[in-house]
Amino acid sequence: MTDLPIMKQPLFWTPPATDGLDIAAKRIELDDRLQRIAGEFGDVRLASSLAVEDMVLTDALARLRLPVTVFTLDTGCLHAETLALLPQIHARYGLTVAAFAPDEATAAAFVAEHGRGAMYESVALRRQCCQIRKIDPLNRALAGADAWLTGQRREQAATRGLLPFAEQDTARGMAKFNPLFDWSEAEVWAYARAADLPLNALYAQGYPSIGCEPCTRPVKAGEDIRAGRWWWEQADSKECGLHK
Ligand code: ADX
Ligand code: SF4
Repeated sequence: MTDLPIMKQPLFWTPPATDGLDIAAKRIELDDRLQRIAGEFGDVRLASSLAVEDMVLTDALARLRLPVTVFTLDTGCLHAETLALLPQIHARYGLTVAAFAPDEATAAAFVAEHGRGAMYESVALRRQCCQIRKIDPLNRALAGADAWLTGQRREQAATRGLLPFAEQDTARGMAKFNPLFDWSEAEVWAYARAADLPLNALYAQGYPSIGCEPCTRPVKAGEDIRAGRWWWEQADSKECGLHK
């Protein structure tokens, strides 16, 4: 009987290798960016999806003791693994992440009319669900703020290839910053590992990008990192409207 071949390639995506990657200069630059934002704007808020990027930003803000509040959009459809980070963040930093939920009656009416699987029916219904569960709560989360921060990076998607550090959120009349815009995936993971950050357990299960449970699945090794988000849609419609 011949031996079975040894599988060298993992079947699913795995977090990047970071051995020997020196991010000291990137960290200093990040600290400087965050300090400048906090120095310039009064009420600054970080939108955290509890992804590794948002954990890096949360850690840096806490380490620098910057007065930036952190909120998450709890769509009512997040994985238990994602929500498990909220008490971990509290335990580590003494920080309560404000959770903004959809309007209960509106969300219930949408499900009653279109069903729990409405997002798979059409792009229009999927966008309506995102409007109710993400955009409306985002508008409430940002009301009265002077600036907001995101964990977006250029490398994450073709649509983010020109993402700047600083933008103007004209719809909401405030500044918007992407302090990790020029970080690579490996650099983000190098920071997370060096600081031993609490991380979503789904990363170890083949999920490189994590959104709502019905709309996220693991991706195969070598696939696009956003291939598991709204996987049944064409790539050009894959925006939930959080970042216009
Ligand atoms: S999405 O538009 O496709 O959902 P993505 O998951 O790449 O966005 O996350 C990019 C950034 O958007 C995050 O780093 C975070 O700043 C913000 N974001 C996305 N989802 C949420 C959420 N549920 N709560 C708060 N912020 C979020
Ligand atoms: Fe609804 Fe899916 Fe959008 Fe979440 S990502 S708000 S479940 S359509």
